[in-house]
Amino acid sequence: MQKIAMIGFGNVGQGLADILVEKKAKLKRKQGYEFKVVAISDFKLGSVYDPDGLNLKRVLDAVRKRGSLDAYKGGTHGWDALRTIRESNADTIIELAFTDLKTGQPAIKHCREALKLGKHVVTSNKGPAALAYPSLARLAKKHDARFMIEGTVMSGTPVLNVGMNDLAGNDFTSIQGILNGTTNYMLSEMEKGADYETVLKKAQDLGYAEADPTGDVEGVDAAGKVTILANMFMDAGIRPEDVKRKGITKITPADIEKATKEGKRWKLIGTVRRKRTGTLEASVKPIALPLSDPLAGVMGPVNAVTFDSDLLGKVTVIGPGAGRIETGYSILTDLLAIERSGK
Ligand code: HSE
Repeated sequence: MQKIAMIGFGNVGQGLADILVEKKAKLKRKQGYEFKVVAISDFKLGSVYDPDGLNLKRVLDAVRKRGSLDAYKGGTHGWDALRTIRESNADTIIELAFTDLKTGQPAIKHCREALKLGKHVVTSNKGPAALAYPSLARLAKKHDARFMIEGTVMSGTPVLNVGMNDLAGNDFTSIQGILNGTTNYMLSEMEKGADYETVLKKAQDLGYAEADPTGDVEGVDAAGKVTILANMFMDAGIRPEDVKRKGITKITPADIEKATKEGKRWKLIGTVRRKRTGTLEASVKPIALPLSDPLAGVMGPVNAVTFDSDLLGKVTVIGPGAGRIETGYSILTDLLAIERSGK
């Protein structure tokens, strides 16, 4: 029985809780998976801990109807993130604090603390994944724990675990794709005539955009994902600021119309490539792709990643790139993988 503590209970955390409430019986029946969420700590919503397990339906009610985890009857209240990690009986920590792609904090501290105690960490937070993946993966190994980050790229669409497990043994010469759901949704809607501000607001309402959506439209989020892919699969040792970056803020309706007339479509493309000289080149920039390019057909909040591998050639994964349930699912898929590994 997995014992879970959640650090952060925003969109993704609540999406995961909805999934766990709905699928609890089926997960037990079909996957043999049993869990207890014993603690949740959120810096805005308060916290609650019960070593015997929380009732997730009542947790969601407390937050959605009364605006606070402290409104949950029973359990211990008032524990902050670090106390929850250190003192709860959880064996698995789900790190969902806010994303900071400059410092990675406080999330990196949360991950370190948990791994040092031999607790597994699952996160969709791009801060620790982009800024500290190699050291956190090493720490996990040292303490016989798992550090799982599937949700940091393409939400719950399996891309990192596919690259790590199913494509293991390949060398990659490049990894390229559409890595941000918000901007791909915006460009798709703008092509239909919607204006920039309206469509950005819609992307926020639909839960695709970051808390600060400038990170999406200026390509910072995509640069974080390029960094994750480059470090995980190409030993690049780069940071997000090493990725040459241009967002979609300067793309006008006239640019979109011109591209359409020329049989092209704008996409925000992230790339990491090994040049002949051996050096790596990483970038995020808008490109007007010919409609015949497979990436040109990827529309809405959908993402795609193409691995160019030595043994298989090009392998492309396409699927949802953002959203509360889609990202909530990324956490579930990692929880199930930990359970399957027998740790
Ligand atoms: N804001 C991100 C996006 C969320 O739009 O892709 C998923 O990482």
